[in-house]
Amino acid sequence: MFCFHDKFRQQLAQSLSLGIKAAFSLDFPWEKAYSLLGATPSKEAGDLAFPLFIIAKEAKTNPALAAKALEAAMTELPGFVLKKVAMGPYLNFFFDFNQIASELVPSIISGKYFEQKLSENMPKTMIEYSQPNTHKELHVGHMRNLCYGDALIRLHRYSGFEIIASTFPGDVGTHVAKCLWFMNYHYKGEIPQEHKGAWLGRMYSTAHNKLEEEKGSDSEATNREQLTAILKQLEQKSGEFYDLWKTTREWSIELMNEVYKWADVKFDVWYWESEVDSDSVKLAREYFEKGLFIEDKGCIGVDLEPYKLGFCMLLKTDGNGLYATKDIELARRKFQDYHIEKNLYVVDKRQEHHFKQVFKVLELMGFENAKKCQHLQYDFVELPDGAMSSRKGNIVPLQSLIANMVQMIKDQYLARYVSEWSAEEIEKTAQIVAKGAIKYGMIRIDPAKKIVFDMQDWLKLDGESGPYIQYSYARINSMVNKLGAPLSSEMKVEVQQEKDLVAQLMSFHHIVQQATEQYKPSILTAYLYDLSRAYNGFYAECPVGSSQEPTRSSRLMLSKATAQTLKKGLSLLGIEAPERM
Ligand code: ARG
Repeated sequence: MFCFHDKFRQQLAQSLSLGIKAAFSLDFPWEKAYSLLGATPSKEAGDLAFPLFIIAKEAKTNPALAAKALEAAMTELPGFVLKKVAMGPYLNFFFDFNQIASELVPSIISGKYFEQKLSENMPKTMIEYSQPNTHKELHVGHMRNLCYGDALIRLHRYSGFEIIASTFPGDVGTHVAKCLWFMNYHYKGEIPQEHKGAWLGRMYSTAHNKLEEEKGSDSEATNREQLTAILKQLEQKSGEFYDLWKTTREWSIELMNEVYKWADVKFDVWYWESEVDSDSVKLAREYFEKGLFIEDKGCIGVDLEPYKLGFCMLLKTDGNGLYATKDIELARRKFQDYHIEKNLYVVDKRQEHHFKQVFKVLELMGFENAKKCQHLQYDFVELPDGAMSSRKGNIVPLQSLIANMVQMIKDQYLARYVSEWSAEEIEKTAQIVAKGAIKYGMIRIDPAKKIVFDMQDWLKLDGESGPYIQYSYARINSMVNKLGAPLSSEMKVEVQQEKDLVAQLMSFHHIVQQATEQYKPSILTAYLYDLSRAYNGFYAECPVGSSQEPTRSSRLMLSKATAQTLKKGLSLLGIEAPERM
């Protein structure tokens, strides 16, 4: 579980527990009080609120009266609490941000704050993500899964979980057969020397379109026969198409690896559909013989009607397995190979029904770990003019997208540094910003909502974007470097904008916890945006370099702490912070 890691909340919760004892003679553990502390509706109403609903019920009074009684009974407040005010059913606390900053800011600057232990005994968890199919092109839509999964992994690891990062690319199936079919029977050109993976993806789209167009034509029967023969060779693992599969599969893997390297993501284990296939068929047979799976019109599967999940087919009439069959074997393997206690799948929402079926079948098979499996779904990525589809020819291939973005960043933002910076630094910074734009844009939207991909919008420096946060960081960093070391270590937090900034800084770990527990890295992106804005508000009102000591040093330290927090927060999303921009 997560620890009670926020020292300020902890102290306040302890005084609350004492106050509750004094006011109502109730034993109310401070841990419970800690969990109940929440945000106030506005700054004017204080900095943290304690609700009295539960206590009023236990003390047989009404919450507003209970709030008044607790206000009167809490005689000892932690040093950082200025005052307490009962407001309706809540007791609200106002903080002394100078005291808070005196403790918090040095620990952020030294890095101690970020080493704090946030949790204990977390379940060993596997997070499976980015499972593209081989023989298909990687496009901007694939980035949502990749960025979301990677951010979840980083957040979990930072929070103290032991995480196994896995992937499960689809390297067998009809899409592969279609691609090889077109290459063999219809493609007349040369095979390119470079970017074979992307080229292969285009072969697949062309194949798909051709097969669709020829439906109902004279060629249809021949096409089907050829495809069946290819699939057969792939199943039997021999023949010219099997050899072609082996070669072409490597091209796709090469492309995936290039993308993973660019995006700075790594997997601890790669599972392959082709590797679980034959064991999955054996497993299905075994359970059929045990009498758990049934036969229906020559197919074998499980009747999930009682659970309103239809029929889950596991073996076709020809004895071959299906996607669900493989997932059943895969789940078994994951638990066996890694002794995990939780098994998460980052997969788009179209597969909701599939996973419900798989998890239900696992449960009916008596697989105890079924309840530890969870599908983390997300909605699609669309273009401003609608859904992406290879048929419409409007997919945005990943590598050309990246190249375009990098070019745009160089033209729009970095052109003015051409005479000052080396070409390497310009290239490196442009890459960092492009990654920031894509990753932030992909993560910023709640997984349950659709994303509209708009390159200009994701690059802009005056709205919520990755580059905006990176720019905020780089600007603070340049200023701090220019002004040199602070001359005093005394904090002087007086102006409202300074207080707002400290309030933001102190909630970093609370935000990290929420983003992790709720599988919503978007909570962290929103926070980083708020923090950047709080800093900009501060910067507009509070001169740093021209102020008198100790205000100057205090503001310098606040700036440093903000930069450190932005950098750490970005790193949990897999985004680098450029030193200048
Ligand atoms: N390769 C599949 C696809 O592209 C996704 C695999 C998801 N993971 C799983 N264990 N089923 O649709």
